[in-house]
Formats: sequence, C-alpha cells, structure tokens
Amino acid sequence: MKKMMTIISTLVLATIATMGTLQAAPDWSKAPAKKMTLLYPGTASLEWTLKGVDHSGAKAMKGGETCAGCHDKEAADVGKKIVSGGKPDLEKTAIKVPGSIPITVQATHDGANLYLRLQWKDTKSTGAPKMDEKNQVKVAMMIDAGKVDYADVGGCWASCHHDLRTMPDVDKNAPNHAKAKALDIRKNGPTKYLKESRTSITNKEHPWGGWDKLKSGAEIDKELKEGEFLDIVQYRSGAAPRDGYVLDARRMKEVEGVAEGKLEGDTWTVSFTRKLASAEIGDHKIEPGKTYHIGFAIHDAYSNERHHHVSLGHSLALDNAKADINAVKQ
Ligand code: HEC
Repeated sequence: MKKMMTIISTLVLATIATMGTLQAAPDWSKAPAKKMTLLYPGTASLEWTLKGVDHSGAKAMKGGETCAGCHDKEAADVGKKIVSGGKPDLEKTAIKVPGSIPITVQATHDGANLYLRLQWKDTKSTGAPKMDEKNQVKVAMMIDAGKVDYADVGGCWASCHHDLRTMPDVDKNAPNHAKAKALDIRKNGPTKYLKESRTSITNKEHPWGGWDKLKSGAEIDKELKEGEFLDIVQYRSGAAPRDGYVLDARRMKEVEGVAEGKLEGDTWTVSFTRKLASAEIGDHKIEPGKTYHIGFAIHDAYSNERHHHVSLGHSLALDNAKADINAVKQ
C-alpha cells in the first residue's frame, strides 16, 4: 500500500511538474494591440531596395531611414500596385492575391516566456495555384537583437536577396555547389541568408546578391556565437511548428509547442511562445531594457517561398511603451 501511495504521489508530482512547464494562457484583453499591414512585396529584394535608379528610398535607407518611416501608412497601396501588375520589375503581370493583409499583433510576458499573438481575417483568396498543398497558412516571425545590418532599417529585408530560390537572379547551378547540402539548397536554389555570412553582396551587375560568396565556417560560427543572426519561428497550419535562425542559410527544425494557430469563423489566430532566457543556439535572449527589430510574414492560401505577405520592420521590447510592439508583463 505504501509503495502504491509512493507511485501515485510520484505520478501526481510528475504531472504537476509537466503542468508547470505549460504556462497559463495570457490574458490577451490586457495586452496592447498594434495594427500593421503585411504587403505583397513581389521580388523587391534588399538589393532592389538599395538600388537608387529603381527605388528612390535607397539613399535615405543608407542613411538609416526605415522602410516603415516612408511606407507604413501606404503599405497597402504598395502591395496593391505590385499585385495589379503596376510594377513590372517586381511582378511581371497582375496576380490573383490580395495586395495586403491587415493584422493585429499583441505581445506579453510573464518573466519567463514571451507570448506573441497575430490575428487577421481569412483572405478567402484566391484562385491562385496551390503551391504548398499541406499548409493553408504559414506564419513566421524573425527577431534581430541589434547586430544584423539592415534589420533596423527593414526587418526581414536583411535576409531577402535577389538570388534566393524563386527570385529573379537565382543560380540554376546552386544545387551542384559543394556546400549545397550544408546550406539546404535543394532543386530550386538557396534559402534566406544574411550579408554578414558573405564576403560581399552586390547590386551592380546582375546576378545581384552573393549567395556563393560564403565566409569560412569558423567566421560564421563566431558570428552565430556573437548574436549576428535573425531568430526565426514558424507556425504551419498543416505541420509541426519550426524554430531556428537565419545566418548563412535558413536553418529550422521542428519543435513542438513554439507556435499554435486556428481559424475560427473568419479569423485566424496564431500565437508564439518562447523562453525569454533561452540558451538554444539561434535564439536571442529577450531582455528588459533592450529593443529588438522584428518582422512578420504570412504565407496565405497555400502559397510558398517568395509568394508571401510581409511586414516592414518594427520594434519589440519588454515593458516599453516606445516600442511598436510592447510586451507588457502579466
Ligand atoms: C526615404 C523614403 C523611403 C524609404 C526609407 C524606403 N522607401 Fe520604398 N519607396 C519610396 C518611394 C518614394 C517609392 C516610390 C517611387 C520609387 O519607386 O522610387 C518607393 C517605392 C517602393 C516600392 C515599389 C512600390 C511603389 O509604390 O512604387 C517598394 C516595394 C518599396 N518601396 C519597398 C521599400 C522597402 C522594403 C524599404 C526598406 C527596406 C523601403 N522601400 C524604404 C521611398 C522609400
């Protein structure tokens, strides 16, 4: 009997311990809400945005002006122009996707975890071909801790290059490169990378970008240790969520519990949970008193690869009303 009781109490303790790691759901009604617009960017890569003859924002960007500073209020118009074929250097013809998706972002924390929630109305698009049969929706967020070039100016644009898979200057021979496997280059080319991982990138002569100008493994490892990467988490409606980082390539693996989502009525709700003091490689520690750069992307209506809607760069901080996204403690 005594042994039985011990087993039972051990089981009870084990259950309580597991429950302890499952956090109580945050009270979202108390979390400040930030509205933003995710726009369809076409092939507007970092290289394109930095090319003065193509983009009049280029010069100011080099001086530190942010994409949001110039485009925040008219992000929906930019997307509309691109999907309607009004910007043929970014999308050759009109396409059947919405120009933009308005979203609401909320964030909160409890001293141990950061919770972030996105909501938007299902776009019920579209008639566009299904590119990713398995996932009706995918949502990603990327966070910079202040060490990645252009992340302060353009959020996700720091990782978006003209020679990525499905982009105009992709190298058809990339899958034959000696490092193709290590960089997860499959049949259609490289994934996101940062300028920090390359000896140079260019937007002078085509091809733009610099996917094959890799720095040495030792240099890249050092950058990773020093926090020069974008921390990425991804929700997928038809598969497990993924967690990882972007530096020399986009490196993600399936991790249960980092994201969840649902479509209720006509509203999608996707939330992310992550440890503030994570020691995982590729996770930034999220600390009080620091400001982070953050960007979001939604792959809507079974879309894939470059065919997503993206936010301009925004700021994130804990208990700081000056940040675009202020995670207030509960
Ligand atoms: C100093 C202001 C400024 C900044 C900063 C800026 N832009 Fe622009 N952008 C413009 C202007 C003005 C245009 C319209 C004329 C043109 O195409 O040059 C434009 C055009 C665009 C277009 C094409 C759509 C259109 O309406 O013609 C896209 C896409 C775009 N910008 C994206 C970005 C992104 C992404 C960033 C940051 C990485 C950025 N811009 C930074 C001013 C800016």
